[in-house]
Amino acid sequence: MRSLIFLGFLAVALQVNAQQGFVSIDCGMDGSTSYNDTVTGIKYDPDAKYINSGVNYKINKTFLETGIPVQAETLRSFPNGSRNCYTINGIIQGDKYLIRGLFFHGNYDGRTPVAFEIHLGMNFSRPVNITDPSDLIWGEIMTVAQDNSFSVCLVNINSGTPFISALELRHIGSKDVYKDVTQTNSLLLYARANTGDAAQDIRYPDDAYDRIWEPFVTPTVWADINSSQPIRTSPGDAFQVPAAVMATAVTPANGTSLTFYVGVGTGVVYYVYMHFADFNALSQTENRMFDVFVNDELKVSSFKPEYLQSTHISLSVTSAPGTEVADKFTLTSTSGSSFPPILNAIEVYGVIPLQ
Ligand SMILES: *[C@@H]1O[C@H](CO)[C@@H](O)[C@H](O)[C@H]1NC(C)=O
Ligand SMILES: *[C@@H]1O[C@H](CO)[C@@H](O)[C@H](O)[C@H]1NC(C)=O
Ligand SMILES: *[C@@H]1O[C@H](CO)[C@@H](O)[C@H](O)[C@H]1NC(C)=O
Ligand SMILES: *[C@@H]1O[C@H](CO)[C@@H](O)[C@H](O)[C@H]1NC(C)=O
Ligand SMILES: *[C@@H]1O[C@H](CO)[C@@H](O)[C@H](O)[C@H]1NC(C)=O
Ligand SMILES: *[C@@H]1O[C@H](CO)[C@@H](O)[C@H](O)[C@H]1NC(C)=O
Ligand SMILES: *[C@@H]1O[C@H](CO)[C@@H](O)[C@H](O)[C@H]1NC(C)=O
Repeated sequence: MRSLIFLGFLAVALQVNAQQGFVSIDCGMDGSTSYNDTVTGIKYDPDAKYINSGVNYKINKTFLETGIPVQAETLRSFPNGSRNCYTINGIIQGDKYLIRGLFFHGNYDGRTPVAFEIHLGMNFSRPVNITDPSDLIWGEIMTVAQDNSFSVCLVNINSGTPFISALELRHIGSKDVYKDVTQTNSLLLYARANTGDAAQDIRYPDDAYDRIWEPFVTPTVWADINSSQPIRTSPGDAFQVPAAVMATAVTPANGTSLTFYVGVGTGVVYYVYMHFADFNALSQTENRMFDVFVNDELKVSSFKPEYLQSTHISLSVTSAPGTEVADKFTLTSTSGSSFPPILNAIEVYGVIPLQ
């Protein structure tokens, strides 16, 4: 009886916590009524209370493909003014946030290509360049709030009309995760891949921070593996990679190395977070141990994933200078390892210095 009461209490607590620190804005939506997304359960607000300029549009119906999120069906477009800003209040200054914009042109005005910039306050900007009206573009950063509000601005660069389809903010309360996000550096998402035959994107509610984990097409030299047993997150593991993401992985189809290439530009610093959990219960005499090399330089020695429990490797990489287009990552078994390397998920972020 006692345990039942305890479970009831836990369920209530989870309900209250759900989507805490989320701001989810469906741009260009008419009216003032929020709705719950049928896929994620996330509650989206119309954008009128965050901005007072711009014009609402619906995408051209011929671009309503399956697989596009419902937030992409409307957008707000800014024909006037060089800078139009969304203001999001209630931000905790000094805390970390994930900020994500969605851009889906859908031929709403019949005018592509279009290019503009998105600015976060005065501190930095990113170009948005849309050549094909059916491109679904997510732009995402993690940043430390400089103030108690965020100002997200669409800036006209005389290459067409800026627009936005959705804007999402997620508070990342823990100080113990994404430590490379600092007062002076934000991280720009390049890739967040769920390796090992994932069928679809995984995000909230599986992911408490609502990161979007995208399926990664397994090359033929790799093999997919999966776990029917749940993967645990150890207490204090603030990465909180969803169990569903951790439950699939890749391993060499043949041999003892996993090799892949990451190209983010030359001579730049970027961050790579790799996530691991072993699916094999190893005997006393067995082990799975591997080294991690970047451009043949040893970065991590004799790494051992834990059985059914998430562990992580965080790397800071300076990409090779010169004409090299990509850096070579190699996970390779140490001599004497009974099993080849695995990789359950990987994230790659560029650095944006704030100024
Ligand atoms: C949206 O979901 C919340 C939480 O589950 C619920 O309280 C609310 O009634 C739902 N709103 C609508 C319009 O369905
Ligand atoms: C919608 O897009 C199609 C294909 O690009 C085009 O033929 C059609 O004229 C567009 N409709 C409107 C209302 O703009
Ligand atoms: C944009 O500016 C034009 C010309 O000044 C005006 O006619 C139009 O109403 C404005 N549109 C919006 C959405 O403010
Ligand atoms: C947008 O991308 C296209 C194709 O990559 C390129 O030709 C064009 O110069 C870019 N425009 C801007 C404004 O960056
Ligand atoms: C898990 O692996 C088994 C054995 O290889 C395979 O039959 C099954 O389809 C996989 N399941 C998923 C969800 O990938
Ligand atoms: C695995 O590698 C060995 C040695 O290179 C080769 O003989 C064998 O054909 C490979 N098997 C597969 C399935 O690729
Ligand atoms: C961000 O921009 C604001 C306003 O220009 C400035 O006061 C602040 O110092 C900047 N932050 C950083 C980290 O450069």
